[in-house]
Amino acid sequence: MCGIVGYTGQDKAAEILVSGLKRLEYRGYDSAGVALEDRGPDGDAVLDVIRRVGKVAGLESELAARHLPATCGIGHTRWATHGRPTQSNAHPHTSCDGRIAIAHNGIIENFAELREELASRGHVFKSETDTEVFAHLIEEAYEGSAAAGIPATHDLMAAVREACTHVVGAYGLAAVCVDEPGVIAVARKDSPIIIGRGERGSYVASDVIALIDATRDVVVLEDGQFARLAPEGITYTDDQGEQIEPAVTHIDWDVDMAEKGGYPDFMMKEIAEQPRVVRDTLVGRLAGTGELDIDELGLTFEELNLVDRVYVIACGTSYHAGLIAKNLIEGWARIPCEVEAASEFRYRNPIITPSTLVVAVSQSGETADTLAAIRDVRIKGAKVFGITNVVGSPVARESDGVIYTKANKEIAVASTKSFIGQVVSLTLLAMLLGQVKGKLPRGQTRMLFRELGDTAAQIQRILDTRAEAVGQAAAACKDAPSALFVGRGMGAAVSHEGALKLKEVSYLHAEAYAAGEMKHGPIALIDPGFPVIAVATRSAVYDKVVSNLKECEARGAKIIAVATEGDEDIKQIADHVIYIPEVRDAFSAITATVPLQLLAREVALLRGCDVDQPRNLAKSVTVE
Ligand code: AGP
Repeated sequence: MCGIVGYTGQDKAAEILVSGLKRLEYRGYDSAGVALEDRGPDGDAVLDVIRRVGKVAGLESELAARHLPATCGIGHTRWATHGRPTQSNAHPHTSCDGRIAIAHNGIIENFAELREELASRGHVFKSETDTEVFAHLIEEAYEGSAAAGIPATHDLMAAVREACTHVVGAYGLAAVCVDEPGVIAVARKDSPIIIGRGERGSYVASDVIALIDATRDVVVLEDGQFARLAPEGITYTDDQGEQIEPAVTHIDWDVDMAEKGGYPDFMMKEIAEQPRVVRDTLVGRLAGTGELDIDELGLTFEELNLVDRVYVIACGTSYHAGLIAKNLIEGWARIPCEVEAASEFRYRNPIITPSTLVVAVSQSGETADTLAAIRDVRIKGAKVFGITNVVGSPVARESDGVIYTKANKEIAVASTKSFIGQVVSLTLLAMLLGQVKGKLPRGQTRMLFRELGDTAAQIQRILDTRAEAVGQAAAACKDAPSALFVGRGMGAAVSHEGALKLKEVSYLHAEAYAAGEMKHGPIALIDPGFPVIAVATRSAVYDKVVSNLKECEARGAKIIAVATEGDEDIKQIADHVIYIPEVRDAFSAITATVPLQLLAREVALLRGCDVDQPRNLAKSVTVE
């Protein structure tokens, strides 16, 4: 996730901003920059905007060489979402006249139309980002715009407040202006902003870790609140400009805890981010007409309509996202979809025709086998569509089109939030194929899109209410030598992901099987106390799953079931039940996976494992 820092006070801002940006490095980024107040050669007030692709250290050495005297400025680390990781796309971004600079976290849903309107009024854009529209909106409000019918505020805080009224989306924003030395205007909606007053100045950051050295008494700005930081102090206002006195929170975390947002480990932090990932991945994806908007696809509807076969190729957890996509693509678009491990696919000389669509799924965007498979099928003439979490990654660059999963940097080796982002993205692709093939009317698309968005709240409900059930289930299986994960349909795909999670973080052996396969061998494994973890949510095949579980129970298995809220019958055979909200079977993989992520993590903790950095594993496998 991107990071924002800002300082105004008695000390040199450059060192303070760099120090804050370094604290935010763990969140992942690909470029960084600062905007510092200064004086030009003729003494006039100017902004020094210094931006660099790559590490903060590069920015630091340039700033050190320039000995800038500024005592007010803002800084930013960017994790690219709109626009590649380049210097011109790095923040801060500036107004046309360079007199206003802004740093922004979040996603502006309506940036395309705002950009068009602003450009039609003569604004010149210098980047590919959504953020830059904010700089020009603030400029128009500050200077006034007859064309836009906006009177001049000649007040930075008021201009920021006005600009926010035009933006749809999420923002944590900090802005400076040469005409108001020492002032930083701040706004917040759906993207964290923390503000603090230290002994020698005022601080703003997107994460408490960046200002914890200066003060532990902070204001966590709420949506629709604004703050004006000045050397003499901080003024808070609401969206009407009325002064408010927000509560002050005392932070007693240490730096390590602060990096994890107060969570004990990155895996838990990232599991907890999943509702946001669902929302962010869906932002701007449904046009008012009910048509899906996946403009990065790089493939026209006509080209998509010619697709008569889909291969989803990936590795590990990303492969499991593909298993879920198969059910959806064949269900909605009624075209064959095969899911293959990239390491197998690339060596078996698959049948590829110009109407084959290959979907490459990769969180890192740099997995060697997946990349090699892309290169191979492109030579054979297939269209390739990438789904990745890293903007500008090799998978993104070598695909005809790409959806970014908007999960932001995933630090724990075990993929969780990026998996959910992949499943949501693949669901959108399946819906789009269904639309293009004329199998999914727009009305149904709208309904599905709304229900897909509802999974964010359903995940949150699981996170808020199922910890005890997960803990009991974990205690029941933590000492087992092995475990079986079973399910049918979506549940079978989810079982594969659940088994991998348990293996990779707790080192407890686990296998996943389609529940109907138990009688064909695996049931021989069952002896008293053997853990069988079942995805037994409401579906057309629920009764079949239950009968498979009864066969396991009859042999003494210890059954842990992920089930739908309100299902009392499952308690007759399951020793432990982790309930999840009722959801359409097509979306059940999104919600049913969460308890299994939590279970794997809990078992790992009980077994004394490092859930963030499991042994033998790397976050991205760039070698074969
Ligand atoms: C999943 O938790 C693992 N980290 C691993 O299986 C991972 O999914 C796999 O290596 C693929 O990585 P990618 O998504 O970056 O291509």
